[in-house]
Amino acid sequence: MLKGKKILIGVCGSIAAYKIAGLVRLLVKQEAEVQLIMTPAATHFITPLTLATLSRKPVLLDYIANPHTGEWNNHVALGLWADLLLIAPASAHTLAKMAHGICDNLLMAVYLSARCPVAIAPAMDVDMWLHPSTERNVNQLQADGCHLIPPQEGELASGLYGKGRMAEPEQLLEWISNFFAIGSMLENKTVLLTAGPTIEPLDPVRYITNHSTGKMGYALANAFAQAGAQVQLVSGPVHLNLQHYRVKTIPVTTARQMYEAVSSHWAQADVIVHSAAVADYAPASPATQKIKKTSDTFWLELTKNPDIAAEIGKQLLPWQVHVGFALETENEETNAQEKMKRKNFDLIVLNSLNEQGAGFGHSTNKVTLFFRDGRREALPLMTKANVARIIVERVAQMVLAKKHVV
Ligand code: PMT
Repeated sequence: MLKGKKILIGVCGSIAAYKIAGLVRLLVKQEAEVQLIMTPAATHFITPLTLATLSRKPVLLDYIANPHTGEWNNHVALGLWADLLLIAPASAHTLAKMAHGICDNLLMAVYLSARCPVAIAPAMDVDMWLHPSTERNVNQLQADGCHLIPPQEGELASGLYGKGRMAEPEQLLEWISNFFAIGSMLENKTVLLTAGPTIEPLDPVRYITNHSTGKMGYALANAFAQAGAQVQLVSGPVHLNLQHYRVKTIPVTTARQMYEAVSSHWAQADVIVHSAAVADYAPASPATQKIKKTSDTFWLELTKNPDIAAEIGKQLLPWQVHVGFALETENEETNAQEKMKRKNFDLIVLNSLNEQGAGFGHSTNKVTLFFRDGRREALPLMTKANVARIIVERVAQMVLAKKHVV
């Protein structure tokens, strides 16, 4: 799958630089063309000779390739040559320079000239990773369109434990393969996506809600944007911040507000995904003042909220792909299949609260996909980012299939 892909790898000064030898081997095995650039600091951690031998190409270290002949490394040509620029390990220092456009070495000149997609795989100590300035820089880079391959949690070279370990070579390879697979499958398509919980006020102080954190929905928004789609993310209140130039967030609080936002955007969308956990009922008449404790029992009258997915399902246009989620605790498959029919979904993603590491709050999920044509696909426990990528791939196939039929 990576045969002939031109991959430029920028290696920075970090102990994780040794892992790049493994990645280069894996990429060369897949017949990718790999060109390495090292920052001066990177050469303290791994030798250019090692990487040149594995990549079968001289490693580029400076603008001037040979001072005696005047031969130089053309950063503009490198940026145009590559299908992907991967900066791994990306040190805190290089991330800061990238976020601010500081051009003081060959790698930075290539980064600033690159027209290809750019991915960063940070590696640093836990406190450096958690520092607000690193967080700001990474957010800025994501907003600039860089893809983040997040660091892993584990033992660090310092002896500390925490987030900061660069992804392993196999994980980097998987990310690169997925990246090329979904590349531009949804270019010029619009995706409308709901995410997170809704909050239904009872009075100015209290509310009814659920445990959704928005992680699944935000992972989907990111994956759709990476596949080239314009994403409208109708989000309930969450503590997540997704900055991607192809994602427009429409913040809402209640189910009714979510319904109104979806109602005004669904007709223009090619794909509509409902990953939000929407409250089925809301207090019939929220109090304007704090409700006082006056009696031993308290009766709360609830009224039904609109079923957003069911409403869209009734009006679905022939070329639109309609995707829902089901969160179940019993009779899971039967309930999911019933929802798929009732809400007119092309695909329903079932996750269960009975599975460890699945559903609300986790960074992982274990899902089964049910398709309108009767196919089913059970996926193992994996990160929500990977679940999202697989859903995006399946949706892209359905978009193509519908296009041929319409
Ligand atoms: O946010 P996280 O912490 O990452 O957790 C992710 C998740 C568990 C919330 C997500 O993966 C998920 O399962 N979302 C749907 C949860 C849900 O409300 O399922 P449901 O079975 O009640 O609803 C079925 C479908 O109808 C869903 O697509 C839902 O968005 C939609 N619906 C439900 C009620 C309603 N009034 N309007 C709707 O559109």
